[in-house]
Amino acid sequence: MLWLPFTQMAGFDAGARRFVRGEGNYLFDERGNRLLDAVSSIWTTLHGHCHPYIIECISKQAAKLDHSTLLGATNPAAEELAARLCLLANMHAAFFSGDGASAVEAALKMALQFWQNQGQSHRNRFVHLRDSYHGDTAGAMSVSDIELFKGRFTGLTFSSATYDGFAELRLDDVAAVIVEPIVQAAAGMRIVPSETYAKLPDMDALLIVDEIATGFGRTGTMFAHEQLGGLKPDLLVLGKGLSGGTVALSATLATSSVYESFLGDFSKQKHLFHGHSYAGNPIACAAALASLDIFERNDVLGHVATMSRETRDSSQRLAIRDDVTDVRGAGLMYAVQVDAARIAEGAGPPAAWRIAERLYERGFFTRPIGEAIQFVPPLSIEVKEIGAFFDALEQVLDELS
Ligand SMILES: Cc1ncc(COP(=O)(O)O)c(C=O)c1O
Repeated sequence: MLWLPFTQMAGFDAGARRFVRGEGNYLFDERGNRLLDAVSSIWTTLHGHCHPYIIECISKQAAKLDHSTLLGATNPAAEELAARLCLLANMHAAFFSGDGASAVEAALKMALQFWQNQGQSHRNRFVHLRDSYHGDTAGAMSVSDIELFKGRFTGLTFSSATYDGFAELRLDDVAAVIVEPIVQAAAGMRIVPSETYAKLPDMDALLIVDEIATGFGRTGTMFAHEQLGGLKPDLLVLGKGLSGGTVALSATLATSSVYESFLGDFSKQKHLFHGHSYAGNPIACAAALASLDIFERNDVLGHVATMSRETRDSSQRLAIRDDVTDVRGAGLMYAVQVDAARIAEGAGPPAAWRIAERLYERGFFTRPIGEAIQFVPPLSIEVKEIGAFFDALEQVLDELS
């Protein structure tokens, strides 16, 4: 049987949420319900589901070359995507993986080996932000800070330091500091105060910027760190929306100084000792290239700016409610934090999950993080859909409070 991630399988009714089709901003379940995908299938979908142009590019590529390894070989789609991403992000080289966590692992290992390659193996400590989340593999968990996700796996993780002041960065054994720019999505769309990033450019360590959740227009600019003037990643991690939300694909982008530290005579063994079977899969790369075409041809970022204002205005009217403790967000990454104590007690799951269930009945698919109800729609969301979501949320809160 199918085992779902982050899901209590006991009592899970698969038939209630079996998606069989996607079109535009909507998912369709087996029972014929049409659901607005208010979480972009966990922050992946950018231009809507089954975008005809992306599907066409995927099909063409699948018919030409389905897969060939990047271990000591290459393919045109991966090469073109690497070049376009580097141009877009002002980086030098792109290393491909599958899921976001794999690209974070690659970044951590690149950072360690970067220092080893210059005879500084003692620089092996990582520093992360408070409430960080970088994925569920061992290295990514180790630089994450959400106890609920990592606490039970301490046997697998290494210790890392939390960044909460300049003194921390004076340590002489730091390999890299890893940050999520502006929004910490898994912490419930927590907005990180911009001062937190101010001293990072002065640090004596590599800077890994994890844009897996925030990249590709989610916070209004192509990459969120563009809004944090002067913040220049040595390693930039991308995933989720990279393929437009269609196929698993992630990337770790490096500056020329990082990349060049891995060059040398074969016998010196300086090359990167890391890689995955499906790295740079041409079908996934074709999807990503198609998504970048859509950014270039349409004013996607202009649309996000308008939709972001609309989301801010629509969500703010909930902020005055007694059963809402906070409304926060940036771009198209929003969360409404409810006060569970004010939601009527009921049988079954906690308050936020019951809210999500009622939203589902009204045609909106979302998933709470703790007591935060997320609204992270596809970038192609429209004004009336935003209004409809917050109207529905207000009605549900009225019913349950
Ligand atoms: C900032 C950030 N980094 C890394 C990850 C892990 O990505 P994936 O779930 O694709 O492994 C996530 C996932 O939510 C994320 O939000």
